[in-house]
Amino acid sequence: MSSSGTEGPDNTLPSEAELAEMSRDELVKLGGKLDGVELVDYPEPWPVKGTRAEKRAERIVALWFTIAGLAGLAFVVGLIWWPWQYKAPGESGTFLYSLYTPVLGVTLGLTILGLGIGVLLYTKKFIPHELAVQERHDGNGEGSAEIDRKTIVAHLEDAGARSTIGRRSLVKRSMGFAGGALGLGLIGLPVASFIKDPWKDSDNENSLWHTGWLPKHPGEVVYMRRNTGKPGEISLVRVEDLDGGAMETVYPFRESERGDEEALAAAFLRSDNPVMLIRLRPEDAAKVVKRKGQEDFNFGEYYAYTKVCSHVGCPTSLYEQRTNRILCPCHQSQFDALHYAKPIFGPATRALAQLPITVNDEGYLVARGDFIEPVGPAFWERKS
Ligand code: FES
Repeated sequence: MSSSGTEGPDNTLPSEAELAEMSRDELVKLGGKLDGVELVDYPEPWPVKGTRAEKRAERIVALWFTIAGLAGLAFVVGLIWWPWQYKAPGESGTFLYSLYTPVLGVTLGLTILGLGIGVLLYTKKFIPHELAVQERHDGNGEGSAEIDRKTIVAHLEDAGARSTIGRRSLVKRSMGFAGGALGLGLIGLPVASFIKDPWKDSDNENSLWHTGWLPKHPGEVVYMRRNTGKPGEISLVRVEDLDGGAMETVYPFRESERGDEEALAAAFLRSDNPVMLIRLRPEDAAKVVKRKGQEDFNFGEYYAYTKVCSHVGCPTSLYEQRTNRILCPCHQSQFDALHYAKPIFGPATRALAQLPITVNDEGYLVARGDFIEPVGPAFWERKS
């Protein structure tokens, strides 16, 4: 808009009294004229009010806002009540758990999409599509004159009035519903973690603090079991099974699982269960440096480390006998098996968690309890 407000293209400016008397339409035209704006075309989208076509267009817009609103509510409900706790493949509830992230993505996406389509359709169907040509003016650093302010306000009011939003209560209500649901979802995102406490009941084996090696009751013996490729077959590791320099991946087994095909298979599938059982060569075992507090975690030349990398959780499956290094193939972290599996190369910064082990009266290797720290990558609440 022109900032001088003292002279229009035709030098016929209305007085203040005339300005006060002018209608909104007249002010709109005046504003355009002052700025050298030529309104080439300014059609009413619906010159005949209340036609079936107009009502149908209104209902379509409202439908999209309603879809957005319902999707927004579904997002909030999913965020709070959908089963989100980890389920290992094969456990009951795995399917629903696997849908948690897709449900949040689809519902939030649909909310934003519905709102966007609703606004676009409303703009297309109900906002007048004016065609105007405007010349820009330099204001010379002066503030807007009264005449400019009045005509701008008139333009804005005119746009609002011509959009007919004021008399479309169905569109207004559905838009409010959609916007409210989206707002609720956006508020819900940061506060959801306070509604659902992930650390509630964190003493069980399914929390981040524990693994499947946690005894289910005091005194329960948790054996080391190898995977023979047959989930129902139980092959336990005896102390004479490994030669010096050998490594075997082992999983927890408890007598209560004998004959329970589902539990036996689940032990192989659970991601924090795999443990590298390493038998060091005698000459290497003599060089071992133990970590403070873990001095008795090994049994002779046997050391057991989690397979879950402390960087971002890939399986550290490679053990190089010659150098006693454990390698993670994901980002090439290396851990020294002679130094409590502390990282010596790559992005990992913490040692692999060590499982305390011993041998029972029958000569089987067993865990003396769960890991004393969480396995895998760091998380906020983790102190070690
Ligand atoms: S996950 Fe092991 S190095 Fe990155």
